[in-house]
Amino acid sequence: MSILDSPGKQQTQKERYEKTRSVIVKDSTMGCSQLAGEVAGLIRQRQGEKKNVVLGLATGSTPVPFYRELIRLHREEGLSFQNVITFNLDEYHGLQSDHRESYNRFMREQLFDHIDIPNGNINIPDGTVSLDVVYESCLEYEKKIEDAGGIDLQILGIGRTGHIGFNEPGSSRDSRTRMITLDRITRRDAAADFLGEANVPRNAITMGVGTILSAKRLVLMAWGGNKAEIVQEAVEGEVTDRISASFLQDHDNATFLVDEAASSQLTRINLPWLVGSVKWEAKMIQRAVTWLSHRLEKPILRLVDEDYNECGAGELLTVSGRAYNVNIGVFDMVKHTITGWPGGKPGADDAHRPERASPHPKRVLIFSPEPSDAVASLAGTIHRLVEQGHEVKLIVQTSGGLRVPDLAAQKFASVLLEVAELIGDTSSGKEDYAREILVQLQEKGAFGDDPENVRHLKALILRGEVRDAAGICGLDPEAVVFQDLPFYEKGRYRQFQLTDADVEQTSRILAEYQPHQIYATGHLADPSALQTLCYRSIEQAMEQLKDETWVADCRVWLYRGKESEMNSNEIEMAVPMSPDQLDLKREAIRKFQSISQDELDSSVRNQTTARRYDQLGMAEYEAIEAFQRH
Ligand code: F6R
Repeated sequence: MSILDSPGKQQTQKERYEKTRSVIVKDSTMGCSQLAGEVAGLIRQRQGEKKNVVLGLATGSTPVPFYRELIRLHREEGLSFQNVITFNLDEYHGLQSDHRESYNRFMREQLFDHIDIPNGNINIPDGTVSLDVVYESCLEYEKKIEDAGGIDLQILGIGRTGHIGFNEPGSSRDSRTRMITLDRITRRDAAADFLGEANVPRNAITMGVGTILSAKRLVLMAWGGNKAEIVQEAVEGEVTDRISASFLQDHDNATFLVDEAASSQLTRINLPWLVGSVKWEAKMIQRAVTWLSHRLEKPILRLVDEDYNECGAGELLTVSGRAYNVNIGVFDMVKHTITGWPGGKPGADDAHRPERASPHPKRVLIFSPEPSDAVASLAGTIHRLVEQGHEVKLIVQTSGGLRVPDLAAQKFASVLLEVAELIGDTSSGKEDYAREILVQLQEKGAFGDDPENVRHLKALILRGEVRDAAGICGLDPEAVVFQDLPFYEKGRYRQFQLTDADVEQTSRILAEYQPHQIYATGHLADPSALQTLCYRSIEQAMEQLKDETWVADCRVWLYRGKESEMNSNEIEMAVPMSPDQLDLKREAIRKFQSISQDELDSSVRNQTTARRYDQLGMAEYEAIEAFQRH
């Protein structure tokens, strides 16, 4: 069945928890090409009827691959957009239309400049209107939609607050186009784009929930594990104004189009035994039992037959026997994920340990997409690996220069200038350099693109911070390798694209160190996220090197980045931390000036993981860093 076909509310047994139809695709490329194909079909059909199509469009990372596919259809298959009228969902208030983060500019760069849509057919809320006329301007926007005959197909993304458009929690079902105040989480998520949370506008103009629901057809796309929880709540939870995407349940022609990672919390994927028969393999049994234990807040070893039956996991007992036996098996499985020896324990029996004992020491590469990612996620594990004698290298994949606020560069240049003046050093060029930086900073203003000099200085500032943080984890400055992947140096957030040069560079590093162990992240993020591209550079490099002998003996451990934590049932290596180690991690994280609140909170997430293990009946640790094997 095609994505745009509307099956009404009819569902299979497996989908019975889903109150809005959900289509799961392997990845965003597949989803976007299917959706773009359907949109193209609609446009062509209307062309045949000499009619217009009215599309509602979204911005953000999610629709970027969809727009790329529309552009490809235009260029390679002659799809014309002459009969297309568009209405965008939202726009920040207070940004000029050419501001680098305005949605107006985003839409031009990502779509409109590359297709043949007439300028007069493009509609985006005006973020520049003054406060006294915002109301009228919003009414006018609603009227324009109506005059165009209403929206045929509305494309949506979903924010981590569950917003559609910028309808933050509290937006009512009947809300129409209006000015709103952005939620903290939304502003935090936009902080990297705006070079700091403080620069993110506080207000935006958005179509209302009611406006969106008036569209004839809605397709909400969601990619990556960071969206999994909110997708589940919106699709399976109650309809509530806390999560505006949940209102899609009230629409009779709405579809969630999600990739595998974003679907991972839907009941049919996460708890499949609740919707049908499953194959009870060890991993599935572990998943069911840890879920049951958390749900009943009862340690694994205290679960009884009735608990299994009452929670819909009774089938497991018919296959595996009494609860007592199942409990012990799963208890051991979880226990064996815990190790204080992330690089393997030399000389020990490793039959039940997550990592093999030999060789020892191991060559270990820790990949950090942005400079602070690895420290924020696995400082404790790095510390242990170093202490246990392994040859650890921290590979910082991108310079991170875009994250450093102007103020930091300004401070650095000012100090340099003063030092040069203090010691009367006029000949070495330091003074000129510092002055040039200060002038460039002033000229470009808060949102201008950083000239190369400034960008370079910002990257150097971060290098210092990384070395300090790595030092706290026990790593010498020489153990920190800066890759400065080219895609980052040339791009901007949400618009990065991986190149062959990135993969080649990664491949060179891997071939040089020939690691026994790799730690990496980005496997679950949004496809256009920086972390995803960094991960793909490793994956593609490993593919190129797959015939080398060391590759067969190399284990890849995946860690989660800042926004999400791993469920107990997903963890394959749990590295415990003492209170001292957790303090040390916090100290390391604090070395980064440009760190976000999410990263600062990572130690709290480590404590949550430990509490969950404790609740399963494992030993009670202060904190745990968690990994999954590739
Ligand atoms: C933007 C919009 C928002 C985004 C949402 C997800 O026009 O309507 O609701 O769709 O914030 O953003 P990304 O796609 O960047 O994760």
